[in-house]
Amino acid sequence: MKPIIAPSILAADFANLQREVTTINESQADWIHVDVMDGVFVPNISFGIPVIKAIKKHAKKPLDVHLMIVQPERYIETFREAGADLLSVHIEASTHLHRTIQQIKAAGMKAGVAINPHTAVSQLSDVLADIDLVCMMSVNPGFGGQKFIENTYRKVAELKELIAETKSSALIEIDGGVNQENAKPLLDAGAHVLVAGNFVFSSSDPKSVIQKLKEI
Ligand code: DX5
Ligand code: ZN
Repeated sequence: MKPIIAPSILAADFANLQREVTTINESQADWIHVDVMDGVFVPNISFGIPVIKAIKKHAKKPLDVHLMIVQPERYIETFREAGADLLSVHIEASTHLHRTIQQIKAAGMKAGVAINPHTAVSQLSDVLADIDLVCMMSVNPGFGGQKFIENTYRKVAELKELIAETKSSALIEIDGGVNQENAKPLLDAGAHVLVAGNFVFSSSDPKSVIQKLKEI
């Protein structure tokens, strides 16, 4: 099965957002990955609701919104209204994660849970059957363009087993430092979705980079 490719808009040229979204529309990308950072959960601040609405206005692909914010449960409806199709919250940021997941689904979105590099895959066991996606961080969240953490391969293999054990249908998404070299071993280990920011947007031809990732 071909991988799902989700270019991260964080690495795009914000002064030409419509053009960048059009590039993704015209590419073989499947989703648009949208990184929201609050300056509290992560050291960086990215963008918020008005920018997501602007992206949604032009996007022809589903918005895969990755919340790197504390207490994400406070904003579920807001992100639905802004245009999120899939909403991921961090396991480290939501005290009542099970309830948060139910709220995301009740709002009509697919539900994802993101885990930091230090978080054990086993911590997902009691929610895996309820979710559509695990966003596995392969860098420490907060910035694009960081180096891929090699331990991710082992975690993907472990998560694949746990997904089978719990009869979950969750997809495994890899987020951070994805490139031409690690994409294939990640897919071989069991990943389904590849997020790519700098690898796509620092290229002079993002569409062909997306195509290459799709055909790996
Ligand atoms: C990091 C974000 C990532 C980031 C990926 O906190 O969650 O989605 O945009 O960017 P690259 O592919 O450049 O590592
Ligand atoms: Zn992300």
